[in-house]
Amino acid sequence: MTDIDFGDDFFFGAATSSFQIEGRSPAIPQGDSIWDTFCAEPGRIADGSHGLIACDHVNRWEEDVELMAELDLAAYRFSIQWPKIMPEGRGRVLPEGLDFYDRLVDALLAKGIAPMPTLYHWDLPQALQDQGGWPNRETAKAFADYAEVVVDRLGDRVPMWMTLNEPYVSASKGHVSGKHAPGTRDLAAGLAASHHLLLGHALAVQRIRSLASAAEAGIVLNFTPAQPATNAPADVELTAVVNGWENEWYIDPIVRGAYPGATVDALGWDQAEVHDGDLELISAPIDVLGVNFYTRTVESAVGQQIPFDAPRTEMGWEIHPQSLTSLMRWLHEDYAVPKIVITENGCAMRDDERVDGRVHDLDRIEFYRAHLAAVAAAREAGAPVAGYMAWSLMDNFEWAHGYEKRFGLVEIEPETLRRIPKSSALWFAEVARTHVVPTH
Ligand code: FCB
Repeated sequence: MTDIDFGDDFFFGAATSSFQIEGRSPAIPQGDSIWDTFCAEPGRIADGSHGLIACDHVNRWEEDVELMAELDLAAYRFSIQWPKIMPEGRGRVLPEGLDFYDRLVDALLAKGIAPMPTLYHWDLPQALQDQGGWPNRETAKAFADYAEVVVDRLGDRVPMWMTLNEPYVSASKGHVSGKHAPGTRDLAAGLAASHHLLLGHALAVQRIRSLASAAEAGIVLNFTPAQPATNAPADVELTAVVNGWENEWYIDPIVRGAYPGATVDALGWDQAEVHDGDLELISAPIDVLGVNFYTRTVESAVGQQIPFDAPRTEMGWEIHPQSLTSLMRWLHEDYAVPKIVITENGCAMRDDERVDGRVHDLDRIEFYRAHLAAVAAAREAGAPVAGYMAWSLMDNFEWAHGYEKRFGLVEIEPETLRRIPKSSALWFAEVARTHVVPTH
């Protein structure tokens, strides 16, 4: 096999999110988010940890930008923490928070790194949760107002805006399974949240269009393609419903202006939250779709069935790069998505081997190599994939798993928070510099 050359019209970057890396600084006041509340509830986070310090990025951001430059990244995806901008979720704006992101954007640009912010990566101001959170339609309007404040400040320098990160996970894990903040377990709340998240996205896109017309605007969706274990009708039908809820629920309204009907029926949703005109708003064209991909599922009426001997990551997720190729092709062929950026792809690994003090993560390198080859195959088939961002730049707070699962290219030494690039970071830097993925 020859090396894969992605050419000059493709970019490589890395991603993080605010709550997972920032922590707090006395110089930057902020409100609590639903994740602060959730972390404080006993039993919610596997290792009992929280995000008050995280990677201390809020204090070490200059060093982190330096690191990104050393790794030759062309783009950095980060998110903006709403309660650092508006502690009550609406109204009062904190200048220190805006200044923080302003400085970050300038520092990235000075190093030639494109800043690619996501406006919402799950850290809803607790004050808005107290008024009902995403199941309340008002939250969508508050989100648009918050987006306006941020875009007004940074819009002259940001080339690409993403509104929401993974609304599926916000709605489903936050409101149905309760494994994420705010920890609700109520399907009706999850369905209401899903619609209001999409509405918030649409209203925010309008604000981006009017304040930063030159920038691209989009949304980040996660996809976990489901495949039937057998051709038995029960497996095939189950797979269709799972795909409807996990993979089509957000892209369908955005591209086609309707929720997937069979899954709406299967869930028994009366769509009472969908007001006249909402779906027209939600289906306004986006410029770019951010895709987060980690794994697939295999659905069987007798329980999920990943092949017994399938390779897995430390999350237990099957490593299945072929599904990334078919996903890109599906988005291109069935949805005609104009432009795709892989906004997250990566893996938690054991990270227990060291060479000269450095985590020697050959398994992570293999993961990236295989998934980049899968992206190349999709591009070859015509899918308009423009860039790839590794999740994550650094080890960080992995939500309900706390700090036990490590996805970083860069290790954060637990006691000192020192940044130490892993072998995978050096490998990825070479790819980012040359645009060539070595196949050996
Ligand atoms: C995604 C999240 C991201 C990270 C990865 C592992 O669902 O967007 O914050 O936790 O999973």
